Amino acid sequence: MLIQITDGAPVDHVDAIARLKRERNAIILAHYYQEPEIQDVADYVGDSLGLSQQAAATDADVIVFAGVHFMAETAKIVNPDKIVVLPDLEAGCSLADACPADAFQAFIDAHPGHKVVSYINCSAAVKAISDVICTSSNAADVVRLFPADQPIIFAPDRNLGAYVQQETGRDLVLWQGTCQVHEVFSEKKLVELKIRHPDAAIIAHPECEPQVLRHADHIGSTAALLRYVQQSERQTFIVVTESGILHQMAKDAPGKTLIPAPPEGNCACNECPHMRRNTLEKLHHALRDLTPRIEVPEAVRQAALKPLQRMLARDLSAA
Ligand code: 13P
Ligand code: SF4
Repeated sequence: MLIQITDGAPVDHVDAIARLKRERNAIILAHYYQEPEIQDVADYVGDSLGLSQQAAATDADVIVFAGVHFMAETAKIVNPDKIVVLPDLEAGCSLADACPADAFQAFIDAHPGHKVVSYINCSAAVKAISDVICTSSNAADVVRLFPADQPIIFAPDRNLGAYVQQETGRDLVLWQGTCQVHEVFSEKKLVELKIRHPDAAIIAHPECEPQVLRHADHIGSTAALLRYVQQSERQTFIVVTESGILHQMAKDAPGKTLIPAPPEGNCACNECPHMRRNTLEKLHHALRDLTPRIEVPEAVRQAALKPLQRMLARDLSAA
């Protein structure tokens, strides 16, 4: 229970959130990279694919999205009539920021005949000019939906794109974006850690750089890494992704040893500064005031919905 004193009066955010959720017929969706106390009040905690599926399926009137802007925007794209709030509107993403829609349109124009596969970590405007969306759970499968000789642009994550190239054997044209969290893991420190823990499995998110991924025993989305820890015979895991995932791993696989992989330098850069902008207090206020709301211009929303639906239905027939 987190009790804060506001204007002299104690506020129990957890109780207030539970009450407001009932009153507003709201659902709280949280990404694994959120603070533990946010994950613990959520109705659903998941990876980007799971969250978009939950957003598409909910019959709640209000969606409180504890994640970053592109995730809440995705929820709004599939739910134009629902209220979607994000506890901190400034919670962005370095990948989405690395791919402005006008520059991306020029890139597409420079590659005629290419289909466009965009990672869900992009703006609604970029989704709107893409043929199909993918997440880190399904990126290789989405690329494989196209005929082998189809030229493809993959954006905005060059590391996920390089990993998908390796997995599928396809030659993709990559937009050069990166995740500021996953690009700072140190290969040197990872190798040193493995020497100290030779029995540990290295598990890594595909947003990491190739020189880090080549040491991994298992590569997958946050949900896939969590499943691996639960199901593996191994007892110790070096976890190469944002450290928020350790909360669910410790809950779902008690008794296993989890070692967060070290970033370069002595920073806390394995915490996403955008994800961490959301707090339990901001979430409470977002639910209470139904703001800050996510809005998407209708023409952009309709255009962005099509590639999202193709991903959710795994159907490229109209792409
Ligand atoms: P997943 O949720 O697909 O694992 O991606 C992680 C991420 O970086 C989200 O921003
Ligand atoms: Fe974006 Fe990386 Fe943060 Fe995920 S962890 S929201 S990809 S900056």
